[in-house]
Amino acid sequence: MTSPGVLRLSHAEIRVPDLQLATAYYAEVVGLVVTRTETNRTFLKGWDEHQHHSLILSEEPTYGLNSLAFKVMEPAELDRLAERVEAAGISTQRFAPEALNPASGTVVRFTAPSGHVIDLEHGQAQVGNGLSLINPPPAPADLKGMHPPRLDHIFLLCEDVDAITAFFQEVLEFRLTEQILADDGHQLTTFLERTHTPHDIAFLTGPDGGFHHLAYWVDEWNDLRTAADTCAYHGVNIDAGPTRHGATRGCGLYFFDPAGNRNEVYTGGYWFDPDDEPTTWTEAEMGRAIFTYKGQVDPGFMSVHS
Ligand SMILES: [Fe+2]
Repeated sequence: MTSPGVLRLSHAEIRVPDLQLATAYYAEVVGLVVTRTETNRTFLKGWDEHQHHSLILSEEPTYGLNSLAFKVMEPAELDRLAERVEAAGISTQRFAPEALNPASGTVVRFTAPSGHVIDLEHGQAQVGNGLSLINPPPAPADLKGMHPPRLDHIFLLCEDVDAITAFFQEVLEFRLTEQILADDGHQLTTFLERTHTPHDIAFLTGPDGGFHHLAYWVDEWNDLRTAADTCAYHGVNIDAGPTRHGATRGCGLYFFDPAGNRNEVYTGGYWFDPDDEPTTWTEAEMGRAIFTYKGQVDPGFMSVHS
């Protein structure tokens, strides 16, 4: 019997130089729900998420990613996964509930071989989705902007994709759904999941600690059009899309927050069982793996930051 392990991607903390501006953007344009404001941090979530937050904005001089977190349901699983990380030669740091913020649960923190700070969290505060648990309507009446219901995945970069993919498979027990292989056999890009979707996290060859985008889920293709309309209305810089990916078969729209962090709203994809075999794309078809219709990737789309 397989262990419960990591449930799903929980949240990410990103840097923004202007917290007030970024908070207004994520609340009014993206349409996330603000659950807590502090002098230097804002906590937000997708409207249908029950957890306290899926995004933390941290006011700092630069932009980029501070950390990402995965949700672990069982305290014993948190201990078991921490032991696996330690056994891989990586030191961990443990935080008691409410140590990182008033809503945080027990957290095991470590730096992955890719250079990314990763938290495994059990017991983040639950605040509900704003709907009654008895005979609820389909959605709250006060949604704003794109109003994605929930976080979907994160896309990162690192120098050694083979190594971080092996770490996620062998230590954190993720499953590989798709990969883009270089002609020499190295992994250029990998897609990994815990939620039976095409990806909860993906890695692309690039600088260690690199952050490409954070993606929120929307329910259908037409929501991508509405999201693009919302970008146009607010003068938000659209990077790519709405379009379809070859890898994951999902559809997405990419745009930038006021600080320069790349956002995506994403839908589609497929169901992936733990015993399914991963799909492989060749280096020659990498453009089609990323953008099915265009078959190539603009250089600007590969711009990253850490
Ligand atoms: Fe994505």
